[in-house]
Amino acid sequence: MAPSKKSPKVKAKGKSGTKTAVKKVAKKQKVAAVTAGRSTVNKKAAPAAPTAAVASVPRIKGMPQSLRGMKDTLPLEQKFWRRVKSVAEALAQAYGFECIDTPILEMTSLFVRSAGTQTDVIEKEMFSFIDRGGDNVTLRPEGTAPVVRAYVNHGMVNLPQPVKLYYIGPMFRYERPQQGRYRQHHQFGVEVFGDDNPILDAEVALLAYLFYKELGISSIVRINSLGCNECRPTYREELINYFRPKRSQLCDDCKRRLSKNPLRLLDCKEEGCAALKDEAPQLVDSLDDSCKEHLMRVLEYLDDLQVPYVLDPHLVRGFDYYTRTVFELIPEDGDNKTASLGGGGRYDNLVEQLGGRPTPACGFGIGLERAILQMKAQEIDPPDDSIPDVFVAQLGDSARRKAFALFEELRDAGLRIAGNFTKNSLKAQLEIANRLGAKYTVILGQQEVIDETILIRDMESGMQEIVDYKKAVSDLKKKIVKS
Ligand code: HAM
Repeated sequence: MAPSKKSPKVKAKGKSGTKTAVKKVAKKQKVAAVTAGRSTVNKKAAPAAPTAAVASVPRIKGMPQSLRGMKDTLPLEQKFWRRVKSVAEALAQAYGFECIDTPILEMTSLFVRSAGTQTDVIEKEMFSFIDRGGDNVTLRPEGTAPVVRAYVNHGMVNLPQPVKLYYIGPMFRYERPQQGRYRQHHQFGVEVFGDDNPILDAEVALLAYLFYKELGISSIVRINSLGCNECRPTYREELINYFRPKRSQLCDDCKRRLSKNPLRLLDCKEEGCAALKDEAPQLVDSLDDSCKEHLMRVLEYLDDLQVPYVLDPHLVRGFDYYTRTVFELIPEDGDNKTASLGGGGRYDNLVEQLGGRPTPACGFGIGLERAILQMKAQEIDPPDDSIPDVFVAQLGDSARRKAFALFEELRDAGLRIAGNFTKNSLKAQLEIANRLGAKYTVILGQQEVIDETILIRDMESGMQEIVDYKKAVSDLKKKIVKS
């Protein structure tokens, strides 16, 4: 910004009032200085981390801490959350999905009936307790079953189908916490009800892929078909026949699951079990004609949509409700040991299983913490739209009152404003403005109140100019548009 013609006047003016105070601040704290319209000191420092100090507070014995695997999301992190949520919402809405929120707490039986009793989530990972009324309730470990319940409870089967819903919210699983695996995580999920057309399977996989693409992350879809009630029993038998002679090499969970739920063996992460998986029979070989055709159509659509995928004939998922298509997203350079960025598939029997009319459905869930970890690993820094355009600083009681009104005028004009009306020292206020990364600070002192002016300070260059109070809003708007 060119130095204002008015700036020299700033220096020449009397000893009391804002100018002197600003000069004192500049001298003492080296925040900035204005001399005869030229900036002499420092560029604005990068906004300091407002939460960094919090992170360094030593743990004191007895001080309450958050639970293991559950995290606070501090202000500095919020720009990542705003970004993933806004990409998710924009994408879902553009594809005609409507938002649904379901309670975080549900009856335990909802998850047991939907996910399957032999799954890790049900056997080991649920946060379940008996509430004061004696009900067995669970913090939702996933979003599909609650959305299916809502679909049935609210008679959405009577709406024009397909019904397309999306949600963003926390899920709870009592897992061993590690990087990318938490006891409270958040998912962006979509569910489509009322049609078994393979184009819908392709559409949800596309959406998951596009979510990451919009964030600047390349991903790839691993996909498989689990068949249907007609063809899966044959495969089940084949799996049992394959694993039974190798029973001694299986982990205890798999030994137990071998006869009841052999598909789960393909999902086991234990080394011994995972090694046996490679030679196991493949489900695609047992698919009946209609399931084979369904899978081929999904893959053709993905080809048309240019969604990169690999067919993984041993891919199964952590819940028993899936039929036909299952898929997971992994980073482009990942392999089948990489934690999934998201996953989903078709579940044509679940609505009926939970008491509704037979209704085909499919969807996905994406772990937002994992999306953010990918962004950070790839140094994708989302714009921080919480940075204020203007910080309103004041000195003295009459100035404070006027500044308060100005704050609202600027906000009303669509600018992002910050201020701290409890601080009396200009130094403290400029430090806050600096820390927040404000582009401009407007300063109102007693002199300005008398003169009906304000001082506008460019926080980047340190230059200041006096502006007629009445022109303050329009002047600042012009500056912000230009910057
Ligand atoms: P899921 O694969 O269990 O599927 O979870 C979806 C995604 O949530 C995972 O791919 C992963 O990105 C993330 N995730 C899961 N557990 C954790 C965790 N402990 N910490 C951090 N992130 C995690 C479902 O939940 C299905 N309801 C998805 C679905 C929707 N299928 C059909 N419709």
